Amino acid sequence: MEVEGIFPPLSLSAKFEGSFAYLTVRDRLPTILTKVVDTLHRNKENFFKDYGEDGIKAEKRAISFLSKLRNELQTDKPVLLLTDNAEDTEAWNEYMGRQQDLMEDGQPVSWFKSPWLYMECYMYRRIQEALYMNPPMDKFDVYKEGKTQSFFESQQAIKSLCTYLQELITNMENMTEMKLRENFLKLLQVSLWGNKCDLSISAGQDNSQRSNPIDSLSDLQRFIIVDDSNMVWSTLVAAQGSGSSGKKHARVDIILDNAGFELVTDLVLADFLISAGLAKQIRFHGKSIPWFVSDVTKQDFEWTIMQTVAANHKWMSASGVQWKHFMKEGTWSYHDHPFWTLPHEFCDMPLDAADLYRSLQGSDLILFKGDLNYRKLTGDRKWEHTVLFDRALRGFHPAPLCSLRTLKADVQVGLQPGQAEKLSSQDPDWMTSGKYAVVQFSSPHREQ
Ligand code: F6P
Ligand code: MG
Repeated sequence: MEVEGIFPPLSLSAKFEGSFAYLTVRDRLPTILTKVVDTLHRNKENFFKDYGEDGIKAEKRAISFLSKLRNELQTDKPVLLLTDNAEDTEAWNEYMGRQQDLMEDGQPVSWFKSPWLYMECYMYRRIQEALYMNPPMDKFDVYKEGKTQSFFESQQAIKSLCTYLQELITNMENMTEMKLRENFLKLLQVSLWGNKCDLSISAGQDNSQRSNPIDSLSDLQRFIIVDDSNMVWSTLVAAQGSGSSGKKHARVDIILDNAGFELVTDLVLADFLISAGLAKQIRFHGKSIPWFVSDVTKQDFEWTIMQTVAANHKWMSASGVQWKHFMKEGTWSYHDHPFWTLPHEFCDMPLDAADLYRSLQGSDLILFKGDLNYRKLTGDRKWEHTVLFDRALRGFHPAPLCSLRTLKADVQVGLQPGQAEKLSSQDPDWMTSGKYAVVQFSSPHREQ
C-alpha cells in the first residue's frame, strides 16, 4: 500500500510477485494472445475469400508476429519500439522513453518489471501492430465475434430493459421529480452493473447478462461500496438552468467501456437523460482501435444501434429507432481520440492530450465507465484505500465526473476507515472478482 513519503505511490506491477498484476501478466495476457491467434486461424477461409492469396499470407505473418509477441512476454524480454507509423506510434515510443527513465539501475522496460497498466495497454497496442503491419488485415477486429456474441446472448435482458425504458418514456409527463430521480438512479445502477459483462477479465469467456437487470438491483445494492449517486443527481439538476437563456442545456459525456450488454445499458441511460430533459446533449467516447477485448469502437457503436433497430421486438426496435434519430439530429454524438488507447494515466491528459481535456471541460458531467478507466483515473497505483478520490485523481478535474465501475483490479480509493479491512476479511477477492462496485464522484469545486 501507499508507502509514507512516496507521492504518488508506486505503480501496480508484475514485479510484485503473487500480486493480481503478476498473475494477469503471467496467465491472463498470454491466454488472450492465444485466443487472438486462434481467431485469425479460424478466419483463414474468410481472408482467402476476401483477399485471395494476399489474405492468407497476411494472416500467416500476423500469426507469426503474435507468437513472437507471446514469447517476448513470457520470457520477460525488453519491450520494443513500435514500427507501424500509425497516428499514435510516436506517442507510444516517447512514453517508452519516460518509462525507461523510471527504471532502477538502467534496467530495460520489460513485461514483468514495468507498470502493469503500461504493459497491459502495450500488449493490446502490439496486437494492433500485428494487424497494421499486415494489410489487408489492418481493418480486422479480432474481438468482433466475442462482442457480437455477448450482444446476442444478452437479448432477453436487452428486451426487458428496452421495454422498461419505453414504459418510462410513455409516463414521463406525469412523473414527479422524486420519481424521476428514482428512475434515474435505477438506470444509473443498471449501467453500473452492465460493467460486470466485460470479456477481458474472463480472458474472452462468455460473460453476458441473461436475467432482467431491473429485478436484480435491490439484491445488488449492498455490493456498492461507495455510492455517490446523489451527487450525480444534484450535479444534473444544478446543470439544468445553466444556459445563458436560462434554458436547459446540460451536456453529459460518457466515456464508454464494453460493447454488448454494457453498451446497451449506457444507451438506455443516455436515452433516459434526454427524454427526461436532464440533458440536452450526450457525447459518447469510444476507442479508435479494438481494445481490451470488449471495448466499444465506432463500428461496434453503429452496429449495436442498427441491430437494436432491426430487432424483432416492438420496444427494442422502438428504442433503436429513437437512438438512430438522436444520432442523426446530433443530440447524441460519437467521438474517439487516440488518447483513450494510450497507456497514460488521466492526470497526464492536460499536457499529453490538451485538445481532449479542453473539450471535456465543456461537459456538465462526465461518466467514466468501467475498471480500466478507474485504473487510469487513479493511475493504477498502490494507494491507501482511505485516500480521497480527488487526491488520487492528481489534478485531473476537467468537469464534475463519476466513475461507474465494478472492481476487477486491486486499486480502490475513497473508502471509510476500516471498510477495506472488513471487506478483506469477508471476501479476500473483493477487489478483483467483479462482485463489488463503486459510483464514485468528484467535482472540480471539491479539489484540495
Ligand atoms: O485484469 C482485468 C482486466 O483486464 C483489467 O486489466 C481491466 O481493468 C479490466 O479487466 C477490464 O475491465 P473493464 O472492461 O471494466 O475496463
Ligand atoms: Mg473493457
